[in-house]
Formats: sequence, structure tokens, C-alpha cells
Amino acid sequence: MSVTRFLTGITTSGTPHLGNYVGSIRPSVRASLRSDVESFYFLADYHALIKVEEPARIQRSTLEIAASWLAAGLDPHRVTFYRQSDIPEISELTWFLTCVTGKGILNRAHAYKAAVDRNTAAGNDTDADVTAGLFMYPVLMGADILMFNAHKVPVGRDQVQHLEMARDMAASFNHRYGTHFVLPEVVIEESVATLPGIDGRKMSKSYDNHIPLFAPRAQLKKLIGGILTDSRAPGEPKAVEGSALFQIFQAFASDGETQELRQAYTDGIGWADAKQRVFERLDRELTPMRERYEALMRDPGAIEDLLLAGAAKARRLSTPFMAELRHAVGLRNLRAQRGIGKADPKAARVTLPSFKQYRESDGRFHFKLVDAQGRVLLQSEGFASPKDAGAAIGRLHQEGVAAWQELGTQLTIAGGASSAEVVAALERLAGANAAS
Ligand code: TRP
Repeated sequence: MSVTRFLTGITTSGTPHLGNYVGSIRPSVRASLRSDVESFYFLADYHALIKVEEPARIQRSTLEIAASWLAAGLDPHRVTFYRQSDIPEISELTWFLTCVTGKGILNRAHAYKAAVDRNTAAGNDTDADVTAGLFMYPVLMGADILMFNAHKVPVGRDQVQHLEMARDMAASFNHRYGTHFVLPEVVIEESVATLPGIDGRKMSKSYDNHIPLFAPRAQLKKLIGGILTDSRAPGEPKAVEGSALFQIFQAFASDGETQELRQAYTDGIGWADAKQRVFERLDRELTPMRERYEALMRDPGAIEDLLLAGAAKARRLSTPFMAELRHAVGLRNLRAQRGIGKADPKAARVTLPSFKQYRESDGRFHFKLVDAQGRVLLQSEGFASPKDAGAAIGRLHQEGVAAWQELGTQLTIAGGASSAEVVAALERLAGANAAS
């Protein structure tokens, strides 16, 4: 079975609302339960720096969003759940991608263009109050996605352009340096992509028309009561088209329940009764989650630990991959210089790194990669048979760094060794193979 890698992030700039839940949190939790999917979910706190200048708000939002995801059923052991700023490779990759991205492409990004248009309309300098962070936003997002070679990225419709840009970046990089990146595809949940807010426009913090996901019951009831309706009296048939109340209900209800409310609209249900039904339906789904959320919010240390464990898991991929990319662009260990100052072949043979296979007391078959001085660089997990261990070694010999990345968590960098040393060693082996 081939596994599809899903990845998505939420910017830690505020408190999650129903629109975030329906459009992003819920579908991501559902996708994570599929056995043919490998999920990467993260808190985009570097992105938050672009919009939010209050440090306490970023910290609070990071906690709230993490707790919301967990309360909604995300199992951190099943997925890779992490905080963007715990993965330093992401900022390094941002620079690599910056260097293959046309400035003109970024000029056309919607968010940047909107800022320029506002300035132009106001008669200001085109770039007034525009930070380079806002301008670079799509590149940081590209790095998030390409760092883990995600196949599918579920996002809101407003993010489609960013995905196109990420594909461009991947293609430009691959074109220059060889194929390293998968071209990611956007996934849009058509039915729920835009949940309306209480005024009927798209639910958004910036319109101040949102309903916080875990608002206390009384507040939830009050906010639903405030959803804009028309002036039709009880008894008069109501239209479901354009009814924000109906759409919000539909996002939570089964087809059967939706059908019933549709019928009630036709039969002239009063707005107050309709709102009561919508409140009850939402509250039924939200109450158990709200209880979990409140418990999680009381224990920030537990969430911190989960995120750090998630970052360690993510870095088992990002560290070797970044080492591969550094090598690809020419940021290399000078000792691994090929062709320059070449020593005589006899000397080269003695200094070649090698693999050592052995069996542990648990009966499993392990190997390590050691450098010419006998220092351990890489350590494998236990394999069931010597054949399996041998196959992994064979791939490392043949494919070098690419095989290292694919073997992923089966290999760990030994204490005291660095990923650059591992890359250098694998490159030397591959070079020696090619030469012999
Ligand atoms: N820009 C996204 C948003 O505002 C959040 C985000 C950051 C993201 N990096 C990402 C989404 C990578 C998907 C993949 O919604």
C-alpha cells in the first residue's frame, strides 16, 4: 500500500473558531485516522510573527491551537505533531528556497498585492508598512511543505496560490540541483471550505464575525442567537440558500438531520426555534471536546512535552534531508572534496568508511556506519534478519544520502557525530562505488 503524506499548519495568531474546526482541524483529524495516510500537523508560529506583535498572544494561541487539535481527537502518537519553530531546518530551507524563487512571483502573491493596492489607493508609498516577512510568507510556507516532502496539503481556498508557489519552488530547485522534492498538491474540502460567520460573510477573525470553537455553552448559545437572518415571521417558508444558520448546521449535522432542517425551513420554522436547534446540535458535538480542551489547557507542560517529542520525531527526517540538500547545493565538507587534491588510490581505500554488522542480545540484526578512524556515525535499529540488514546497507551503498532519508527512523545519528559527517561518509562510499 502506498502511503500519502498529508501536511498542514495553523498560524498561531488567535483563538480557533468554528470555521477553523470545520475547514481544517476536523478534516485533518479524520485524515490522520486513515491507514494509507501519514500526517504531519504543525503550529505555524514563525508565520504568526508576520501578523502578531504581542508575544503573549502568540504563546497563548500556540497552546490553544495545540489543545484544540488534541481535544478534537488528534493522536500525537499516530501523527507527527510539532511546532514549526522547533525545526530549525525549516528556516534554513527557507533560505535555500528564497534563492530559487523569482521576486516577481512573490510580487504577485495575493496578500502582498492587497497591501500594495491599499497603499496605492491611499496615496502612500506602495510598500508602506509592508514587512519583508509578509513578502516572504509564501517561501516560509513552501519550506514547511517541502521540508517533509508532503504529497497533499489540505488548506482553505485562500491558500491555493501559496501551494502553486510551493510547487514552483520545488520544480526550480529540482531543476537546478536534481530531484529532491515532491511537487505538493492542494486539497480543498469543497463542502466546508468556507463556513459563514454570524454576519453571513466568511467566518474570520478579521471580520469579527466568528464563533470561538470552545466558547462556553452560554456564549455559544448567545452567538448562535446573533446569526443574521431575514425578517420572515414564524409560519412563513424560509430559504436555505444564503442562510448562514443553515450552512453552519449543515457543517455539523448528518445528511438526514440536514434534510429535516431543510424541511422545517420550508414548513416555516421560526428563527428562534431554528437557532435553538442549531445550538443544540453544535453543543452536542462540542461539549465532550470542550471538556477535554479545558483539561488540556490546565496542563500546558504536558502539551509542551508532546510538542518536543513531535519535533524530535520530525527532525529524524528533516536533519538528514537538510544534510542532503546542503550537499546538493554545494555546502559541503571540504574533506569530501572529489577530484581536487586526490590522494593515491591505496590511501583512499584505507580511509573509506565502512559498515559493521552485528547481532544484539535481543536476537535482532543491527549495523553501524563507521568512519575510517572507527568512529561510529550512524546506528541502525534492529532488523529481523541479516538479509534485511544487508538490504538496507546495500541501498546506502548504492543510493547514499537518498537511501538514508528513506530509511528514516531506522537510522539514528550516533552521539557526537553530525549529519554533515554522515553525508560526507555516504558520498565517499558512493563515489568509491562509482569509481570501482
Ligand atoms: N498559511 C496557512 C494559513 O494561514 C498556514 C500555514 C503555514 C500552512 N504553513 C503551512 C498551511 C503549510 C499548510 C501548509 O492558513
